[in-house]
Amino acid sequence: MSIFRTKDVEVMIRESKRHGLIKSLGALDITLIGIGVIIGTGIFVLTGVAAAKYAGPGLMLSFVLAGLTVAFVSLAFSELASMIPIAGSAYTYTYTALGESLAFFVGWGLVLEYTVGASAVAGGWSAYFTGILASGGVHLPEALTKVPADGGIVNLPAVLIALFLMLLLVRGTKESANLNKILVFIKLGAIFIFLILAGPKVNPTNWSPFLPYGWHGVATGAAVIFFAYLGIDSIATSAEEAKNPKHDMPIGILTSLAVCTVLYIAVTAVLTGTTPYPQLDTAEPVTFVLRNLGYSVGSAIVGTGAIAGLTTVLMVMMYAQTRAFFAMSRDGLIPRSLCKLHPKFGSPYLVTILVGIAVATMSGFTPIHLVAEMCSIGTLFAFFMSIIGVMRLRKTKPDWERPFRCPALFVIGPLALIFCAFVMGNLPAHTWRNFFVWMAIGIITYFAYGRTHSVLAQQESDASKS
Ligand code: ALA
Repeated sequence: MSIFRTKDVEVMIRESKRHGLIKSLGALDITLIGIGVIIGTGIFVLTGVAAAKYAGPGLMLSFVLAGLTVAFVSLAFSELASMIPIAGSAYTYTYTALGESLAFFVGWGLVLEYTVGASAVAGGWSAYFTGILASGGVHLPEALTKVPADGGIVNLPAVLIALFLMLLLVRGTKESANLNKILVFIKLGAIFIFLILAGPKVNPTNWSPFLPYGWHGVATGAAVIFFAYLGIDSIATSAEEAKNPKHDMPIGILTSLAVCTVLYIAVTAVLTGTTPYPQLDTAEPVTFVLRNLGYSVGSAIVGTGAIAGLTTVLMVMMYAQTRAFFAMSRDGLIPRSLCKLHPKFGSPYLVTILVGIAVATMSGFTPIHLVAEMCSIGTLFAFFMSIIGVMRLRKTKPDWERPFRCPALFVIGPLALIFCAFVMGNLPAHTWRNFFVWMAIGIITYFAYGRTHSVLAQQESDASKS
């Protein structure tokens, strides 16, 4: 049995029609899903520390560097998303291009991005939520807002928000997309209020020195804030639910990336232009700067918008994980019973409940900041494999219909690989060590279960019997 057996895309599309998800999303829905998942912890939480400790005002260039990496990756990704409009994103593409075992490992890596990432965001959500309550005079007991390692019993707000979103996702994609739309507008509103209030107070002398930590600081900053772009690929996981994936997927992916990059650079410019960068060492830089400038009401409004923003990120990350598991389960690499659809809502409810409980448990009890950097490495690994996949498919399947063709793929693709490797190289050594441990567990799981239970394995064994 070959561990490099690949899936035929025609068969996959046929199967997805038979056991498929409901097609309800248009280009605007997809763009909003994108903005929903991209803008969040990265801009509302990480920018402050990254500017203070790693890059100074040069953090603007870190966003350009990380944004360029993601742009190259997205162009290639869009070709895959339009060509293989099936749930599962990087996992599904790798299955088609590079074979089953590598696809399994990519799916395994995506768990780091989506489930671990979602748990980290749930922790951030809880911090903002308890902060806003505290500023309104409502103090929740620490035992119920902190994980055991930080002296509490359980981070209850994080658990409750994860379970609430799980229930919403069980109710179906359209409902979740509708709530997502409202929250995205609130989040964008919060960012614009920040830019309008603080923008006129920029004093360019704060941008000097522009590179206090040199170019090395810009590179480290890019690795740290890469988290801000995580989720871009999860847009592609909704391809199977898009009404016209060939047209809507590339538009959705590239538009959301462009909007987010411009906003990130603008927010960083205003943060570092209004406040000397060493003072930005705080987990809530945006509200901190507004308070310092004397806008306490504006700060509270923007804080509330940040909570809305983190909610959308959390929801789309959980959504993406359910779709990646759904695809793996439909392929038999994890138990097939998990891909059952809800008789009334049509959502893959068993995997959704599984993901909801996993995120709730991790965010409730684990000091998640310890593993948060693993999100970036898992994602970059999935990006890396997908880029190799898209280039390989151009050679091995030149005749497949490509509604969106990545321009100059053999220039953009290698550039994407180099940029991904560069960002990965700037991640700390302990992140690499944890990543290898996680992948080793994946290898054992694949050989103990997936290799023999996959649908392709069953087909091979049936063929050899007859
Ligand atoms: N990009 C997402 C965020 O910044 C994960 O929260």
